[in-house]
Amino acid sequence: IEVAPFDLAVFGATGDLAHRKLLPALYHRDLDGQLPAEARVIACSRRDMGDKAYRDWAEASVREHVTDIDEAVLKRFIERISYVAVDAASDAGWTDLAKRLGERSDVVRAFYLAVSPDFFGSICERIGSHGLVTDQTRVVIEKPIGKDGTSAKKLNETIGGVFREDQIFRIDHYLGKETVQNLMALRFANALFEPLWNAAHIDHVQITVAESLGVEGRAGYYDTAGALRDMVQNHILQLLCLVAMEPPESMDADSVRDEKLKVLKALKPMDAEAVERLTVRGQYRAGASAGGAVAGYLEELEKPSSDTETFVAIKAEIANWRWAGVPFYLRTGKRLASRVSEIVVQFRPIPHSIFDTEAGSISANRLVIRLQPNEGVRMQVMIKDPGPGGMRLRQVPLDMSFAEAFKVRNPDAYERLIMDVIRGNQTLFMRRDEVDAAWAWIDPILESWSSLKEPPKGYTSGTWGPSASIALVERDGRTWFEDL
Ligand code: BG6
Repeated sequence: IEVAPFDLAVFGATGDLAHRKLLPALYHRDLDGQLPAEARVIACSRRDMGDKAYRDWAEASVREHVTDIDEAVLKRFIERISYVAVDAASDAGWTDLAKRLGERSDVVRAFYLAVSPDFFGSICERIGSHGLVTDQTRVVIEKPIGKDGTSAKKLNETIGGVFREDQIFRIDHYLGKETVQNLMALRFANALFEPLWNAAHIDHVQITVAESLGVEGRAGYYDTAGALRDMVQNHILQLLCLVAMEPPESMDADSVRDEKLKVLKALKPMDAEAVERLTVRGQYRAGASAGGAVAGYLEELEKPSSDTETFVAIKAEIANWRWAGVPFYLRTGKRLASRVSEIVVQFRPIPHSIFDTEAGSISANRLVIRLQPNEGVRMQVMIKDPGPGGMRLRQVPLDMSFAEAFKVRNPDAYERLIMDVIRGNQTLFMRRDEVDAAWAWIDPILESWSSLKEPPKGYTSGTWGPSASIALVERDGRTWFEDL
């Protein structure tokens, strides 16, 4: 279904996000007939270049990231794009942008800030001072929103001085991933899971977002952030919210976000002693990845030392009736053994076995929701081994691979999210109070780490992180699932 006519002004249009994600995503939406004839993309950046040079660059970006190009669609898509040189930090170019946008003030107008967060405030202020905010205007910002609760509040206030909250779209691209949305379908469109979805039946939950890549070209940003700010404050806590929240009244944006907020507020705060006991920080050393030998974090950074963590594992708890006493083990890191993101829901063992010992041991049920790669849902169940040999039990997966079940291309998260911006649907975007609540739980962890002054533990690239992360789970008599 076509969205309404729009002007999408992308700041940072010559940057990495536009190149890898935004342009290919918009091309795909055009291919699927979702962009109306009147949809325009206005590329903005500081560079002095004309429409033709930018269009060539944009075309190359799409060709690099999309297989099986439809040449007619690509041509149509590229013709939607124009370029305006605008400076985020001064008034240069803003009248040109105002003129371009002013040609049509009745369409949806979206500003996508694909730039360093340092510029969010100044761009928003200029959008305001140049009178570019119409009633149909929205602004999209990427994480990180602040470095801590205080800076996030300040930034949100600046943005809030120009835009209403219903015009602000804070992207967490994990929420646009198909399997993440499927988590809501799984929980709330099936009668099977919800009655069991609580401390009485669930032993623990594991959320793993593992990457095999290192910090690549982003060491400058990453060294000021670290894994806790880069992945946990946003993506992992959002996943945790979707696993743990109460059924919302509807899929309406505020109903869903109200429920997520309650989860964030119920996260058990950690004091310094808890941080020491329940969190593990790591930093990768040289080692091997699929492509061969790789350098350590400090070598990549070209610095003699850094306390920035590239791995974090946390045992979190949600202090409410549904989840009291159920650990949520969270971990994420760079240069781990493989690139895999999974949510594992481990059910409790059966209360009593009627089978004799020859039947073998009975493993408790486990639901595995795989975000990437090979998106799908797998339920580990016990069955009888086939054949007349007597009652022998075996654990097998009831497996639902999305690729096999649907045989359609899995759209990138940005495709869904950009269209939601145009539609004005905020369900998959973070509300301001969610950002605040997430920082309220993260800040004390950051503070304790910095006062403990213990450097992150080294781990060899290509492994599952420091051994302390394994101990974090094993001392509870559990284990990370690494049949990932
Ligand atoms: C980003 C982080 O938000 O997510 C990156 O800043 C990380 O450090 C990326 O690599 C992971 O996203 P995905 O979609 O590849 O899992």
